[in-house]
Amino acid sequence: MQAVCRKATENDIETLVDLIAGYAEKGIMLPRSRDMLKRQIHTFVVAEVSGEVVGCGSLTQLGADLVEIRSLGISEGYKGLGIGSKLVDQLLHEAKEQNIPKVMALTYEVNFFEKNGFTIVNKEIFPEKVWTDCIHCPKQHACDEIAVLRMLN
Ligand SMILES: CC(C)(COP(=O)(O)OP(=O)(O)OC[C@H]1O[C@@H](n2cnc3c(N)ncnc32)[C@H](O)[C@@H]1OP(=O)(O)O)[C@@H](O)C(=O)NCCC(=O)NCCS
Repeated sequence: MQAVCRKATENDIETLVDLIAGYAEKGIMLPRSRDMLKRQIHTFVVAEVSGEVVGCGSLTQLGADLVEIRSLGISEGYKGLGIGSKLVDQLLHEAKEQNIPKVMALTYEVNFFEKNGFTIVNKEIFPEKVWTDCIHCPKQHACDEIAVLRMLN
C-alpha cells in the first residue's frame, strides 16, 4: 500500500476534525476544534492512500530550538503499515527546514517512537510545554504520558 505524505491544506480540515475527534474520545489525543485547525492547518501534515487521508500529525513550536509532534494518528485499518513512521519522517523534515534541532512528543506509544530514533527523557526538561497545551489538559495534574526526544543533526 503506497502512502504519500504532504502538507495539509484547508480542504483537509473536515477530515482532520473527524480523525482527531475519534482519538480524543478515546483519551489518546487532545481534541482540536475546527477553529483551531483552521488557524493551525499550516502546522499539519497528512498521509494519503489512493487519494484518501488516512493519517495526520502536526508540529508545534515550544521554544527557539524545540518543537513538539502533536495529533499524530493513523486511521483504523491502516496502522502497522509504516505510515506513522512516514509521517514522523515528514515532520522531522519540516523541523530541519525550520532549523529546529530538538523534536519531542508526549505519548503512550513509546516503542513506536523509539523505532523512529527517539529516546525517553524526563518531562521536567521541557518547561515551555507547561505553558501551552498542558494548561488545557484534563490530565494536567496526573499526566501519565511519556516524554520522548530526538535530536536532529
Ligand atoms: C502510534 C501510531 C501513530 C503508529 O503508526 P503506524 O503507522 O501504526 O506505525 P508504523 O507502521 O509506522 O510502525 C513503525 C514501527 O513501530 C512499531 N509500532 C507501531 N505501533 C506500535 C505500538 N503500538 N507498540 C509497539 N510497536 C509499535 C511497528 O511494529 C513498526 O516496527 P517495525 O519497523 O519493526 O515493523 C498509530 O498506531 C496510531 O495512530 N495510534 C493511535 C494514536 C496515537 O496513540 N498516537 C500517538 C500520539 S503521540
